[in-house]
Amino acid sequence: MSAVPHLIEPASAPLAARPLLKVEALSLEYATPQRLVRATHEVDFEVLEGDRFVLLGASGCGKSSLLKAIGGFLQPSAGRVLLDGVPVRGPGPDRIAVFQEFDQLPPWKTVLANVEFPLLASRRCGRAEARERALLWLAKVGLADFAHLYPHALSGGMKARVAIARALAMAPRVLLMDEPFAALDALTRRRMQDELLALWEQERFTLIAVTHSIEEALLLGNRVLLLSPHPGRVRAELDAERFGPASLGSREFQAQTQRIHRLLFGSMA
Ligand SMILES: Nc1ncnc2c1ncn2[C@@H]1O[C@H](COP(=O)(O)OP(=O)(O)OP(=O)(O)O)[C@@H](O)[C@H]1O
Ligand SMILES: [Mg+2]
Repeated sequence: MSAVPHLIEPASAPLAARPLLKVEALSLEYATPQRLVRATHEVDFEVLEGDRFVLLGASGCGKSSLLKAIGGFLQPSAGRVLLDGVPVRGPGPDRIAVFQEFDQLPPWKTVLANVEFPLLASRRCGRAEARERALLWLAKVGLADFAHLYPHALSGGMKARVAIARALAMAPRVLLMDEPFAALDALTRRRMQDELLALWEQERFTLIAVTHSIEEALLLGNRVLLLSPHPGRVRAELDAERFGPASLGSREFQAQTQRIHRLLFGSMA
């Protein structure tokens, strides 16, 4: 008996807890002709592999700017972003973003060609493999029968699903989503949230999502980072693992919503 404990210690435990992405004292600024606009101030957080990490805050608090910095499209004025311990210096196929706009899909390419395109352009795979992967991911988001349509023939929800398939087909280390469902009607938005969670259950990708909806943050996230208004600073980090579609409208869900509202918009007292 005495020799057993050290043998059953799970070897993967330290690996699972290792942060995949680290944001360290990240300050972001934009230089406009009139003045310097500070978007975030010394923001710190860590994202673990498999997290559904949500950045939540009021309009203008720097959520999109944070995603741009993680994506490598915006250079920090101070601080840094580390992916697997390596500083992010520019965009890369290990970080793929999905945005809220309906028109993020080139309209002259079919759904299939839209999903294939980044795979081919990044030389991640050859023609045959790109086709196979694209079809696989279209099937995963329920669009196998729509591969040969053009984007104009799709509903808003379907376009969002194509964008998600296109991003996940690239097998990024992190999927970045900036208000991906904000332009959808309320019912479609709820359905897309459920679909995204179902896809996550299957695939366990790492997600960093931005929203200004408290409900969406609690539904989608296992961890939620609250940012104070402009310039964004970390106000709090909350565990949202226990909330999901089944808890929508529950007393605990409502209480947490009110608490977040107070943290975001209430007094500091
Ligand atoms: N290209 C830019 N040039 C100058 N200022 C910018 C630029 N992009 C963003 N900003 C400013 O930086 C701040 C943060 O903007 P950001 O878009 O990151 O906010 P956000 O939290 O995503 O807001 P929203 O919820 O409205 O999308 C804002 O004050 C905004 O005006
Ligand atoms: Mg934004």
